[in-house]
Amino acid sequence: MEDLAPKPGDLDAIETASRDEIEALQLKRLQWSLAHAYENVPLFKKRFDVKGVHPSDLKSLKDLALFPFTEKTDLRDHYPFGLFAVPRDQIVRIHASSGTTGKPTVVGYTADDIEMWADLVARSIRASGGRAGDIVHIAYGYGLFTGGLGAHYGAEKMGCTVVPVSGGMTERQVTLIQDFKPRIIMVTPSYLLSILDEFKRIGLDPRETSLASGIFGAEPWTNAMRQEIEAAFDMHAVDIYGLSEVLGPGVANECVETKDGLHIWEDHFYPEIIDPETGEVLPDGEIGELVFTTLTKQGLPMVRYRTRDLTRLLPGTARSMRRMEKVTGRSDDMIILRGVNVFPTQIEEQILKCSGLSPHFQIELTKENRLDRMTVHVEAVPGAADADVRSASAKELAHHIKSVIGVTAAINVTEPEAVERSMGKAKRVVDNRRE
Ligand code: DLL
Repeated sequence: MEDLAPKPGDLDAIETASRDEIEALQLKRLQWSLAHAYENVPLFKKRFDVKGVHPSDLKSLKDLALFPFTEKTDLRDHYPFGLFAVPRDQIVRIHASSGTTGKPTVVGYTADDIEMWADLVARSIRASGGRAGDIVHIAYGYGLFTGGLGAHYGAEKMGCTVVPVSGGMTERQVTLIQDFKPRIIMVTPSYLLSILDEFKRIGLDPRETSLASGIFGAEPWTNAMRQEIEAAFDMHAVDIYGLSEVLGPGVANECVETKDGLHIWEDHFYPEIIDPETGEVLPDGEIGELVFTTLTKQGLPMVRYRTRDLTRLLPGTARSMRRMEKVTGRSDDMIILRGVNVFPTQIEEQILKCSGLSPHFQIELTKENRLDRMTVHVEAVPGAADADVRSASAKELAHHIKSVIGVTAAINVTEPEAVERSMGKAKRVVDNRRE
C-alpha cells in the first residue's frame, strides 16, 4: 500500500500544537459555548438553573463536570427546532436521523457551522491520506442522513473532485469506480462489503482499482474487518466517527500513518468519558460512555451530550489531540445473554476467523422456554456452500463464540446473498423476543 502520510506542513497548526495551547483554546471556547447555550436555549437555561450552575462557574476544563447532561430524548422532546440557539432564518441546513421509533432527531446548522464542518471533514480526509486533486467517491447516503452531504462539503473544501453517488445501485458503484478511478472512497464498511461482492460477481479484481484509501464510519467495525478490507482492495482502511447531534461525520478520524484509534478534533469538541450508571467522569484510559460538548457550534450547541457510544480516551500520537479507541458498540446495541454482555462487533471478529464464512451477518434474538436465545445468521462464502462445508463452518464459529465470548449461539450458515443487505448502516440485531 502507498505511503499516504501527510507532510507536517500540510496540517492545521492546531493539529500539532502543545497540549497547553489546545487546552487554553478549549477553555476559552467552552466558556463561550456554555454562555451561548444558556442565553439562547430555554432548556439549557432551565437545566443550569435547576442545578445551580452558571456559565461563569466554568473556571477550568474540569468544572464542566458541574453542568447537566443532554440526551437524545431532549432533542425529541423539543422537536423539531426547540433547541436551536439562533433564529430559525439563520439556519441554512437541517439534517435528521430517522431512529427506529418515534419522531426523528432534528439538527440545524448556521452558515458558519457548515464551514466548520467542511473544514473538519477536509481535515479528516487529509488524515486518511487524501489530498487536493483526488477523486473522491462518496457512497454514504445523501439526504437527511449527515453522511453524504457532510462528506461532500468536506471533500469539495479539500479541493477534491467529488463523485456524489450516494448509497445503492451497487452495479453502478462498481462501474463508476472502474471508469472514474477515484483514489478515495467514503462509505459505511458494511456497504463496502456489498460493493466488494459485486466486484467478485462480475469477475473484476478489487485489488486492481485506483482506490488508495477508504474512509469508513457511521457504524462499528473491527480491526479484523480492517484487515479483511485492506487485503481485498489493497488500500488503506481508516475510521471516521461522528454523530448528527454533535456534527455528523468528522468529529474524530484515524490517521493513516498510525491507525491506532481516532483523533478527536478537540479544538471543536470537548470529550469526556463517564460511568454510564453514575454519570461520574472517568480518567483517560478507562472505558465508559463518550460525552461531547461542542465548543464552536452556533445553531445547535450541545452541552455534555451522552452519545451512548462506549470507548476510552487515549493520549495523542500522530497528532497532539487525544484519541478515542475504536468504538466497540453502543450501549443500546449491547445484548445481554444470560448475564454476559455481547456486542455485534465481537461476533464480527469471530466470523472473520472462519475462512468459510463471509462477513455478512445478522444476530437474531428469540425466547425459548423463557430463556433468551441468540442465533447468528451468516453467509457462506461463494464456493463453500455445500452442506458439509457449511456445517463445519457453523461448528467452528460456535466454538470461537463459546470460547472467546463465553456464550452459546446457534449458527445458521446461509447461502450467499441470504442475509439482508443495507446500503448504509447495517442492522446487526433483530430482536424477536417480544413476539
Ligand atoms: O452516522 C455520522 C457519520 C456519517 C459518521 C458518516 C461517520 C460517517 P448518526 O446517524 O447520527 O451519524 O449516527 C451516529 O453512529 O453515535 C455511533 O453509534 C455510530 N457511529 C458513527 N461513526 C462510527 C464509527 C452518523 N466510526 C452514531 N464507529 C454514533 C462506530 C460509529 N460507530
